[in-house]
Amino acid sequence: MKEIKKEVISPVEVKPRQNVKKSLFDLAKMKKDGVPSAWVTAYDLPFAHAAQKAGVDMILVGDSGGMVQLGYSTTNPVTMDEMIMLAKAARKGAPDTFMIGDMPQGAYEPSERDAVISALRFVKEAGSDAIKCEGGHRIIPKIKAMVDAGILVMGHLGLTPQSTGSFGGYRVQGKSVKSFEKTMEDALELQEAGVFALLLEAMPSEPAEQIARALKIPVYGIGAGTGVDGQLIIMHDLMGFYAAFRPWFAKCYVPEVSGQFKDYISQIPDIRKNGKEERRDGLLVLAEMAIKAYIEQVRGGTFPGKEYSYSIKSEELAALKISKYWK
Ligand code: KIV
Repeated sequence: MKEIKKEVISPVEVKPRQNVKKSLFDLAKMKKDGVPSAWVTAYDLPFAHAAQKAGVDMILVGDSGGMVQLGYSTTNPVTMDEMIMLAKAARKGAPDTFMIGDMPQGAYEPSERDAVISALRFVKEAGSDAIKCEGGHRIIPKIKAMVDAGILVMGHLGLTPQSTGSFGGYRVQGKSVKSFEKTMEDALELQEAGVFALLLEAMPSEPAEQIARALKIPVYGIGAGTGVDGQLIIMHDLMGFYAAFRPWFAKCYVPEVSGQFKDYISQIPDIRKNGKEERRDGLLVLAEMAIKAYIEQVRGGTFPGKEYSYSIKSEELAALKISKYWK
């Protein structure tokens, strides 16, 4: 009798996804697996391109672009039209990266309808994957309206630059019991309203970590220490490209990679002799190297570290530890 050969089905090789836009599920899995996300702001084609090439998880087209690109002294004057222009350019530079449009002041506060219309502009005109809004309890109806319209919304708490006036200036948040509990309550309310992630700005590590642990959604930080699920940095801080100001929790990565850049440049052929090659001999490569160094340090847990995190006095921490939210 003829032997019937059984077909051997070899297992499908599952390769890690590279250069594929992150989804909500990827971001949620990174939190679950304890892999810190690394993301940056970008407001134009070249830096968004460098960010995508370096492999960032997300790009935020922040209203900080009003300061670092457009030259305003605060983010308050930025308009929706300006944000759309910046976001369109960033999208062209990074077509395969999860991109978040930052709702400027005035784009969402007046009404739920305004919030949905502004958010949809980011999605439809600029190709954004999500939007970000500053605020907690006071904007919950707007958050719900946008989520109901099928828009992915990221929350933003802690120091929220659009309302620095009400904080009495750029002040570190979450140090007092009142500020910590208010931030925790806002964070829980935002999660309940359906935001897919939350950004905390300018808080010491310890209270920020408590919030990250209490929430199921990813909680990221900018100046919020090491205990959160990932880090955001302003591109112009990372590159040392904005002379007016740099918060001390932000690190410029150019000095660290300048040796690497010099070695690279000394080894590449003269691009004028093979003109069809991608032009990889200048600032774009340096930016990519600097962003890669940032990503590596975030993934490896060495950035922000203690050096780039706000500290908290032992008596302030002791007071926080008796809060009902402290676990
Ligand atoms: O506009 C922005 O870049 C931001 C960050 C400061 C968090 O909102």
